[in-house]
Amino acid sequence: MNKAGNGKVGEGRAVGKKPIDAEALRARAAGRKPTYRAVTFDEIRHDAEVIALIEGADLTLAAMGFTDHGIRHISRVANRAMMICKELTLPERDRQLAGIAAYLHDTGNSVHRVDHAQSSALIAFNLLTRKGMDPLEIAAVMAAIGNHDEHVGEPVNNAAAVLILADKSDVLRSRVRSATPMLTRDIHDRVNYASTDSQMSVDREARLITLKLTIDTRVSPVMEYFEIFLARMAMCRRAANYLNSDFSLIINGNRLL
Ligand SMILES: [Fe+2]
Ligand SMILES: [Fe+2]
Repeated sequence: MNKAGNGKVGEGRAVGKKPIDAEALRARAAGRKPTYRAVTFDEIRHDAEVIALIEGADLTLAAMGFTDHGIRHISRVANRAMMICKELTLPERDRQLAGIAAYLHDTGNSVHRVDHAQSSALIAFNLLTRKGMDPLEIAAVMAAIGNHDEHVGEPVNNAAAVLILADKSDVLRSRVRSATPMLTRDIHDRVNYASTDSQMSVDREARLITLKLTIDTRVSPVMEYFEIFLARMAMCRRAANYLNSDFSLIINGNRLL
């Protein structure tokens, strides 16, 4: 029985809607060019939601006694990542994606410290999709963020490589929250507190990325630095190699790598 109720198949069409032509819909969707936006680093840096997520993640880490992962850490990482892109003359869009990845790389700590690289990547997917970013670019940003952890990370694209270098080199006294770091038994606090200066430079001609640290050996012997940062420095070397460069580490004026 059709809608008209007269039992004749097809007669209902004359008074109702046209039936859906799925084939035509599919063909139209395939031909339609999606409109995506080139989301910029500046836009992300000033986004209230992003800033709140960074602060929320840092509050969680503070409660667990971890070093500073707030805006100061994030902006140092972003500046350093974008500086490396500029010095190695990588494409401007890669520089932007590296800055965006750097800004979002630790937001997953608002979920949990464990696997935060992966949760940060999924937070980035949600946020950047809502901003209308090209999914291919989002995939690159997610890969960069998801690969910044030294246990599982690999330099899988330019943004990932510079993020590794920028994040793993951020060892600094000001990141320690403990008021009595000399007394603390935590080696991360001790090594960060001992690091009074951290500079990264890029020699474009020599394709050499150098991390220069000044470590107060009264607080922590250089050996302690290697104890916890060896895996990170090996990761930095892999990242530099991905960028067709070498990585060098200088501590207190002595070249160690
Ligand atoms: Fe992280
Ligand atoms: Fe970080």
